[in-house]
Amino acid sequence: MNKDQLSSIMVIFGGTGDLTHRKLIPALYNLLNENKLPPSFAVVAIGRRDKTNEEYRKDLKEAAQKFSRFKIQEEKWADLEKRIYYYSLNFMDGEGYPDLEIYLRELENKYKTQGNRMYYLAVAPEYFEVIVGDLHKNQMTEKEGSWRRVVIEKPFGQDLESAQYLNHKITHAFSEENTYRIDHYLGKEMLQNIMVIRFANAFFEPIWNNKYIDHIQISSSEVVGVEERGGYYEKAGVLKDMLQNHMLQLLALTAMEPPVRLDTQSIRDEKVKVLKGLQQMSTEEVKANVIWGQYGAAGEIKGYREENRISPESNTETFMALKVQIENFRWSGVPFYIRTGKRMPTKSTEIIVQFKSMPKILYWQEYEDLQPNLLVIRVQPMEGVFMQFNAKQPGTETQVVPVQMDFCQNCHIGSNSPEAYERLLYDVMRGDSTLFTRWDEVEYSWRFIDTIAKVRKEMNIDFPNYEAGTWGPKKAQELLQKDGREWWNI
Ligand code: BG6
Repeated sequence: MNKDQLSSIMVIFGGTGDLTHRKLIPALYNLLNENKLPPSFAVVAIGRRDKTNEEYRKDLKEAAQKFSRFKIQEEKWADLEKRIYYYSLNFMDGEGYPDLEIYLRELENKYKTQGNRMYYLAVAPEYFEVIVGDLHKNQMTEKEGSWRRVVIEKPFGQDLESAQYLNHKITHAFSEENTYRIDHYLGKEMLQNIMVIRFANAFFEPIWNNKYIDHIQISSSEVVGVEERGGYYEKAGVLKDMLQNHMLQLLALTAMEPPVRLDTQSIRDEKVKVLKGLQQMSTEEVKANVIWGQYGAAGEIKGYREENRISPESNTETFMALKVQIENFRWSGVPFYIRTGKRMPTKSTEIIVQFKSMPKILYWQEYEDLQPNLLVIRVQPMEGVFMQFNAKQPGTETQVVPVQMDFCQNCHIGSNSPEAYERLLYDVMRGDSTLFTRWDEVEYSWRFIDTIAKVRKEMNIDFPNYEAGTWGPKKAQELLQKDGREWWNI
């Protein structure tokens, strides 16, 4: 990659926020450490508070020390730090943008960044429209011979209608090609690996369909609770916080057809087809197939309703489990069970493929409890692939037992996978939007979510209904049990 193409100014709206400290700055440091940042690069972090560059850089250093995957080396940090500038602006005040433009141009001359800019909106969603609108009004979104890209954090809208509205506003200012909608799960190593595992191995692809697969489980559990994000989470709940984006992206990558080529559009085309194929459930189906949960206190651990900035009567859900069907030739009849929640026993994201059983002859007659074949794509914290199959236990009798093969790519010393944000920021700079969500992906995911949200709104559930530190409400187990299946916690 020619580093000149990466030359740019990264303008962060929300410079004093959590995301900038925990993710963006550590990611930039790691990129610099791996020699991926061009010399002609600078950051302008915008915040409302008054701060000097020195004060701001000091805060960032502390955050980088805490959150960067590489240890901070003074010399390298100094190289990054001197290129980070704090700019105080109330971004709701349209009057301030002409001065910002002047400031950015000065830095562009200083750093020879050729007018290229990445606008990163690390702010609450209600500000997206205003910021993009003011950038556009002040002719900051386009420049002949330069690139101007906008990066938008989730949630992209609150439902289909608001997402369409927001998208309309954004396309006014930035083309689809220059709009990078972040889903940080797509930056995770193993999500990028799903396509490789599926399409580069003769083992898997031929049996990746309803003839051989019994069902698929996609599970993402967290140990933490809502933390300090009560204000946001009360509105989003797990449905909009995890299912609409991360979980549906995991599903799309697991279920998609092989793309004709590995280019951005071909891959996204296939993902969209999966989202389009999601069964639109009736009210009754939503009630039967979607399970909701909210954690209650356990010992020292607070219940959701006792958390900071949460209503004591809150009906927001922190857990959900659901059964979905993809209505196409490959997947007809194969249920996908999705489960995600906060305050569960472990932090883990996995895709578990359970294959159909062998005909119930031969070993079945003697060993009724023969275990199914499983393929597990481990996304985090372990990254790798796990397989379970049956083999003969050594000995004079023929005893069949399940055995496991476990490939873990980050368990070895020296392996240190890049953080999702490193890959994603680097991709924005080089203009590769494959790992970002295209508008129609967002659109179809909202179509699916809206149907569920509508039914949910009418439902009264007796919350809290699971104890912090457990696998969710009992009904989540029953969802699979009634189909003769169990959740796997591998
Ligand atoms: C975020 C959600 O998008 O993803 C959080 O807003 C959640 O609520 C987080 O905790 C999980 O991400 P990760 O990378 O820790 O699995």
